[in-house]
Amino acid sequence: MIILGINAYHADSSAAIFVNGQLVAAIEEERFKRVKHWAGFPLLAIEFCLQEAGITIEQVDHIAIGRDPKAKFLKKILFLLKHPFGSIDVVKDRLNNSRKVASLAEEFNKFTGTGKPLLKNKIHQVEHHRSHLASAFFASPFNEAALLSIDGSGDFSTTMIGIGKNNNIKILDSIDFPHSMGIFYTAFTQLLGFPHYGDEYKVMGIAPYGNPKYVDKLTHVVHLTRDGLFKLNLKYFKNATKGVISYGEDNIPMVAPMFTDYMIDHFGEPRKKEEPLTQYHKDLAASVQSMTEKVIFHILENLQKRTGLTNICIAGGVAQNSVANGKVISNTLFRNIYIPSAGHDAGISMGAALYVQHQLLNLQRQPSIKSAYTGSYFTNEQIIKTLTKKNISFSKYEDNELFEKITDCLVNGGVVGWFTGKAEFGPRALGGRSIIADPRRTDAKEILNLKIKRRESFRPFAPSILKEYVADYFEITDEVPFMEKVFPIKKEKQANIPAVTHVDGTGRLQTVDKEVSPRYYGLIEAFRKRTGIPILLNTSFNENEPIVNSPEEALDCYLRTNMDMLVMENIVVKR
Ligand SMILES: [Fe+2]
Repeated sequence: MIILGINAYHADSSAAIFVNGQLVAAIEEERFKRVKHWAGFPLLAIEFCLQEAGITIEQVDHIAIGRDPKAKFLKKILFLLKHPFGSIDVVKDRLNNSRKVASLAEEFNKFTGTGKPLLKNKIHQVEHHRSHLASAFFASPFNEAALLSIDGSGDFSTTMIGIGKNNNIKILDSIDFPHSMGIFYTAFTQLLGFPHYGDEYKVMGIAPYGNPKYVDKLTHVVHLTRDGLFKLNLKYFKNATKGVISYGEDNIPMVAPMFTDYMIDHFGEPRKKEEPLTQYHKDLAASVQSMTEKVIFHILENLQKRTGLTNICIAGGVAQNSVANGKVISNTLFRNIYIPSAGHDAGISMGAALYVQHQLLNLQRQPSIKSAYTGSYFTNEQIIKTLTKKNISFSKYEDNELFEKITDCLVNGGVVGWFTGKAEFGPRALGGRSIIADPRRTDAKEILNLKIKRRESFRPFAPSILKEYVADYFEITDEVPFMEKVFPIKKEKQANIPAVTHVDGTGRLQTVDKEVSPRYYGLIEAFRKRTGIPILLNTSFNENEPIVNSPEEALDCYLRTNMDMLVMENIVVKR
């Protein structure tokens, strides 16, 4: 049984393929297209998935697209009738998108080149939030769990709660557009001077520099409701009756400004790009983050009471809020949590496929998905070929010697591009396509910003820690395979790892498992033997672009920046 899932005509378009229940490949189209958040038809990602499965498109049994234009159709019509002005854009956008989704069969047929309409009956449209829920629950280790999907919006919903039991997801409730925590967070992100799609993590990074002084004020912007959900005060949100995200001809998602004059009256003029971040901005960021956490815990507490369950699965764009994720266990009665590596919209492809696999076809559940390494990979021979073609000299070492050489470089303040195995699915580099540095250095952030990243000074760098040592360094002991949670670092350890300790004493950790990431584990272990620290600073291997996918792109990034060493599999390039 072969099931192909896709996220198409939506930000972070992607494809994933399951063969006899096993996830064989999953990848974002942006990795091939080299355009962040690319939102068209994921042709190259599909081709990659088919190649990994060793099949042609005709051999796929089911195709799942994580989008259903028919979902909440009546509600959409009623909404448009209620908001006849200003909703023309939304009608146009939605119609355009519906047409695109409906023409998927044609798109696939074009792809096969057979001209025969053989695929139409294979295509399943799975509603956006059901796909998110499935991406978490059916990939989790739980037979039974409470479920939450929370994002900007998708198929006219912004939040959905449910229960997963064995092969079945049951929806308990949902919130309709435009009442959305994604819209709430994005509007303030824009007001704070970050206008681009996907900038929300910057507000999360600033928040620890401020005090959440304005939470009371924000209770007028978002109301917790008695049914355990929430509502926005729409006076503050401008484009709530228009489309929120639009896609140009270039398939790059764009967000229109969402805050109204009413918002400006209450929270001040929007910060311009060149203006400095004041204490007010930092306090506002802290308040927005705190309010978001309050809403999430309010939903979760009620969901916990309603279901009586202690397992929780979370997905959706707002589930990328690793600070909130890290506090779920201490703020609710949930005891176990699963968040997929692609909790955002790229995960829709995997979720839609899993939904068809279990909910529709009732196929047997599989072991939990613990690895995000489902993307492109390259052998030493392929890497050597690339380097030779470009006239770049290199050396080759076996693993043990290689790990010592890298450690030499790191302890001397070096920054290393580390490219090994399959690329990660999801927004985080997890030791497959990473840039690494010594976490003990107080100047690591400056070195990285100077040599490579040139990013805002308020943004923290993350620690990859050997799984067995989490309790020594963090206040909470839990598995965090996908860097999806932020935990407090023990006070007495913070001075040992200043490069990965944020201003509030926290770190967005990745727990590195020997079984899942053997080579990355081996490297960190070599560093631990030398320094006593079982941790490396890990940031994504890129520079203002999607994470590098191929050896050519890794080499380009290395040559463009001032990285000290490039390691691809067993091959080393040095300055
Ligand atoms: Fe979503």
